[in-house]
Amino acid sequence: MNVVYSRGYQNFYGRDFLVTPDVLIPRPETEQIIDTVLDLAGKSYLPGVKPNPRVLPEKPIILDVGTGSGCIAITLALELPEAKIFASDISEAALEIAKKNASKLDASISFIISHLLEKVNFTPDVVVANLPYVDESWDWLDKKTLSEEPAIALYAEDHGLALIKQLIDQASNRQIKYLILEADPCQHDAIINYSKAKKYTLLKTAGYILSFEFQAI
Ligand SMILES: C[S@@+](CC[C@H](N)C(=O)[O-])C[C@H]1O[C@@H](n2cnc3c(N)ncnc32)[C@H](O)[C@@H]1O
Repeated sequence: MNVVYSRGYQNFYGRDFLVTPDVLIPRPETEQIIDTVLDLAGKSYLPGVKPNPRVLPEKPIILDVGTGSGCIAITLALELPEAKIFASDISEAALEIAKKNASKLDASISFIISHLLEKVNFTPDVVVANLPYVDESWDWLDKKTLSEEPAIALYAEDHGLALIKQLIDQASNRQIKYLILEADPCQHDAIINYSKAKKYTLLKTAGYILSFEFQAI
């Protein structure tokens, strides 16, 4: 068995999260989602670096779509205590692990079972998402290692972009102001072009992470 699943936990942004084969093992590249949100909140995540001005409301509503272990949502709840944090997933088994992590780390999160935004009946200020984006045909994949993680957490149709595009459509229809996505850098140009047509302007890329702002006109 994968050494992380045998150990039962993985560190993310300085905290240990329970992991089982029902959830993706949190990856270091995903930590930049946290830095990106802190940046929007006018908080410095690097010692000695002056933060950018805050663009988020005083008490922002943030939704983590495809929360898995809950690592993103829980970290945001602990780093941004003024925010109201929601976390959703299509997998009930994953949500059970995320709930255990929230309780273990004493984070206040509201959980929703949903396909993307389907069951989300409010408009968050920020949506963050590390959705499945792996294209099964990529020849550099270590399929043996990945086979221990849930396929529902990894793979997507349309060159890995199917769920990301659906989320961009849904977010654009609801005019969600900030959208922060993780994808392989080889997919970034396609995502930026798709988002532009849906009124999302790229703010920045940081490693695997893209951040967008909705602009109605
Ligand atoms: C790449 S994992 C990310 C997990 C966690 N957020 C992280 O960064 O470690 C993707 C997650 O999206 C969930 N997921 C897959 N399809 C989904 C859908 N249609 N709607 C909502 N969540 C979905 C999976 O169950 C999985 O937990």
